[in-house]
Amino acid sequence: MKISAALILSSLSSVAFSAPAPAPADSHHEDHHKDEKPAVVTVTQYIDSNAATSTVESAATTTTLSSSEKDTSEQKRDGGFQDGTVKCSDFPSVNGIVSLDWLGFGGWASVMDMDANTSSECKDGYYCSYACEPGMSKTQWPSDQPSDGKSVGGLYCKNGYLYRTNTDTSDLCSTDETSAKAINKKSDSIALCRTDYPGSENMVIPTVVDGGDSQPISVVDEDTYYQWQGKKTSAQYYINNAGVSAEDGCIWGTSGSDVGNWAPLVLGAGSTNGETYLSLIPNPNSNQAANFNVKIVASDGANVQGSCAYEDGSFTGDGSDGCTVSVLSGSAEFVFY
Ligand SMILES: *[C@@H]1O[C@H](CO)[C@@H](O)[C@H](O)[C@H]1NC(C)=O
Repeated sequence: MKISAALILSSLSSVAFSAPAPAPADSHHEDHHKDEKPAVVTVTQYIDSNAATSTVESAATTTTLSSSEKDTSEQKRDGGFQDGTVKCSDFPSVNGIVSLDWLGFGGWASVMDMDANTSSECKDGYYCSYACEPGMSKTQWPSDQPSDGKSVGGLYCKNGYLYRTNTDTSDLCSTDETSAKAINKKSDSIALCRTDYPGSENMVIPTVVDGGDSQPISVVDEDTYYQWQGKKTSAQYYINNAGVSAEDGCIWGTSGSDVGNWAPLVLGAGSTNGETYLSLIPNPNSNQAANFNVKIVASDGANVQGSCAYEDGSFTGDGSDGCTVSVLSGSAEFVFY
């Protein structure tokens, strides 16, 4: 199923959420440019059953952009990653990196080359993309990206050894902004599956929130994070029904499976110019109501504009397009109940 209608996610006209780049066959993308405003445009992509894509764009009115340096102090614990020292057949062990054993790629989230050829093992000529812990994002992707709108990310394998694709940092994972978390008030765990981006865009990077527990949501600093063709992008998660494990849910699903790209709901998170935008978005692949409700609530003392909730399979407020809040100060929580 494809959707092609432009979607302005909130009356705030702000950066709502965004992500992955369209596949080359995507002709819909250009259609949305009529909605562009001169400043920030983020791109939201939904992935259909045939791995074809469509995009939804949200134009933002922000006009001035500032980049901010990330606080990397906590990432220096392990001395970082050393180029040419880890075999491509080994999965690196450095701060924040997570091996995804259930995918069958040797722990990697995806293995792709510049032409989007894929491999089940990390080998010469390929970019080997990896997951980071909840609340962290990968730092590695080449500044030269495929010209056709695909993306690649991760470490590069050359002569049997792994090399960084971004040598500005030796950390493979960096801590995101801490302005959002997920709180699970249900008894079953909930697997939120972040897209591997830049990279395969498969929703394989897990944040599992156990019943009664909480986990950070990655609010990426869009001013410094990966930009797709000059456009800011944010973190995007597919939210599986409560009770689905990461192994069962953080995968490329199949039609009717209700997991992965067929999960009931999508979550977006990013910040720009110091403002955080948090979204709940319907997954056009799924017309099943989730077995949970979720609402975005302000943490104590936070200044959160807008309201956003999903209850009994419907979004509160106007319409079926999902909803967004902006966090002007403090933090907010996605409360599952
Ligand atoms: C991708 O695979 C095709 C077909 O095998 C090949 O022609 C092409 O060179 C590959 N791309 C790269 C970057 O190796």
